[in-house]
Amino acid sequence: MASKGEVYVDEDTGKDETSSGTQSQPYKTVQYAYLQHGADTQYHVRDPESQPDEVKWKPAAKAAIKKAANYADAQRKKAAKADELAIREKQEQESREKSLEEAKKIVIKDDASLPAAKKIPLGEKIDLEPAPRVQVVGRVTRQAKQSKLLFITLRDGTGYMQCLLAGDLANTYHAQTLTLETSIMIKGQLRAVEKGKTAPMNRELQADYFEIIGKAPGGDDAITNRVPPAGAENAQARLDMRHLAMRDEEISNVLYVRQAVEHAFSTKYWDLDFVKVSPPALVQTQVEGGSTLFEFDYYNEKAYLTQSSQLYLETAIPSFGNVYCIEKSFRAEKSLTRRHLSEYTHIEGELDFITFDDLLTHLEDLMCGVLEIVLAHPRTAAMIKKLNPDFTMPVRPFKRMKYTDAIDWLNAHDIKNENDQPHAFGDDIAEAAERRMTDILNVPIFLTHFPTEIKAFYMQKDPTDPRVTESVDCLMPGVGEIIGGSMRMDDYAELMEAYQKNGIPSEPYYWYTDLRRYGTSPHGGYGLGLERFLAWLCKQHTVRDTCLFPRYMGRCKP
Ligand code: 4AD
Repeated sequence: MASKGEVYVDEDTGKDETSSGTQSQPYKTVQYAYLQHGADTQYHVRDPESQPDEVKWKPAAKAAIKKAANYADAQRKKAAKADELAIREKQEQESREKSLEEAKKIVIKDDASLPAAKKIPLGEKIDLEPAPRVQVVGRVTRQAKQSKLLFITLRDGTGYMQCLLAGDLANTYHAQTLTLETSIMIKGQLRAVEKGKTAPMNRELQADYFEIIGKAPGGDDAITNRVPPAGAENAQARLDMRHLAMRDEEISNVLYVRQAVEHAFSTKYWDLDFVKVSPPALVQTQVEGGSTLFEFDYYNEKAYLTQSSQLYLETAIPSFGNVYCIEKSFRAEKSLTRRHLSEYTHIEGELDFITFDDLLTHLEDLMCGVLEIVLAHPRTAAMIKKLNPDFTMPVRPFKRMKYTDAIDWLNAHDIKNENDQPHAFGDDIAEAAERRMTDILNVPIFLTHFPTEIKAFYMQKDPTDPRVTESVDCLMPGVGEIIGGSMRMDDYAELMEAYQKNGIPSEPYYWYTDLRRYGTSPHGGYGLGLERFLAWLCKQHTVRDTCLFPRYMGRCKP
């Protein structure tokens, strides 16, 4: 130890935490030394002029001691404040625990003298005059305390309901410890909210009884801590938590619109007398090129997950006439764009004895018909309005533009190809260029007559210009291509030649080729990506946000 009242500091060789302040074990800083020994001490610092073998000491500068004293004082005050806070917190915790203990003693009863409660889903419309007694179940989506009242918003998939817990109900242990996502049953009187106040469906359930069904965790495990807030930087973390994130209103609205759109397609096809068929997902043929095939071992044979049901739909038209399917298609896309998935829902139609023009007219009719059905459903229409306030019905006929005109348009607008060169006939119009063009034109576009070289083997050539095919992509603002379709090569010899030209062995396609031998016909069809249609309709940045659990390169969970 230093002799009483004498403390030594050497800024070069001293150590703070492990020294004792003697000449042989000096501290490093006056500040630290002062914290240990206080005001009643003489502080010496090593004279920087002195030699290592003959150390000299001199009194520490007054300014340095004053600074150290101020620091020590601030530290003391800080510690005192922290102690005070800890005591207050402890008191608060004790008082909370005491009040929760008291709360546990409050027992609420389902009053048998009240009228029987009618069970209703949260979204059900019901006469509020006179105010009925109802029973609802749901999960807590929001809650707010206002003096002695507890406002809860419940959610059950059919809608939202504001519930008010007052008096003893609000003082119960369960009400005081209520967490978001807890499932709960509430009974009470359903009343219109006062004028000027807002609540879902302008009504409020004034509770007289409730029971907790499943308590959700709070604290670190609360849903708000497990699901990060929306935003590009959290996209991956939110997808990991998709099973909980999908309880969010916007996500569930998109998924609700999804099923409404799927239903509308079925309705429209029914109205058009199309027959629904269910082609297989496990196949041994490709449709849209080998590079995006998911290959697997099928009892020691090579097989693939289907890229498109088109070829199978073609087999069905001789039996049923016009057909459609709504099935999953799979693409081993090695890109991470906002419109590519590895697994997507493909709505495909095939029409018999038609011209290319018939195909385009059918597509307009189909899409507008589906939108009319969807918008005629009030709940779906309200969700679309919320998700995409600027949505307007496309005007028929859609803009039709030939591929060669699109090339000219892109060059006139100085939009370059992928190699940063002007576009030339034969270029695949890349996603970025296609989207810029669509966004500038800002209307649905039928882009037609793509060169044979860049399109699939089965496409019918334009009889007036065999360099191009009778093909169509439907492009929508904000998304780009949502439909790909074409007339199909219906001549046997021409198809055999096409296999050869594309390096496709014809043998596995014997069943497809046979269609050209047993009563061939001019026919055509298309595939519409449901997720892209939804991204456009619901104004979603990426198709990933339109799936229950999206699958794309690198993601196969949850
Ligand atoms: O243009 P595609 O590749 O055409 C076909 O598969 C045809 N055999 C369909 C047919 O004629 N029956 O794909 C059709 C549509 C695209 O316009 C797009 O909307 C969607 O399917 N699509 C994808 N959607 C999400 N992720 C992907 N990886 C997609 N690939 C295609």
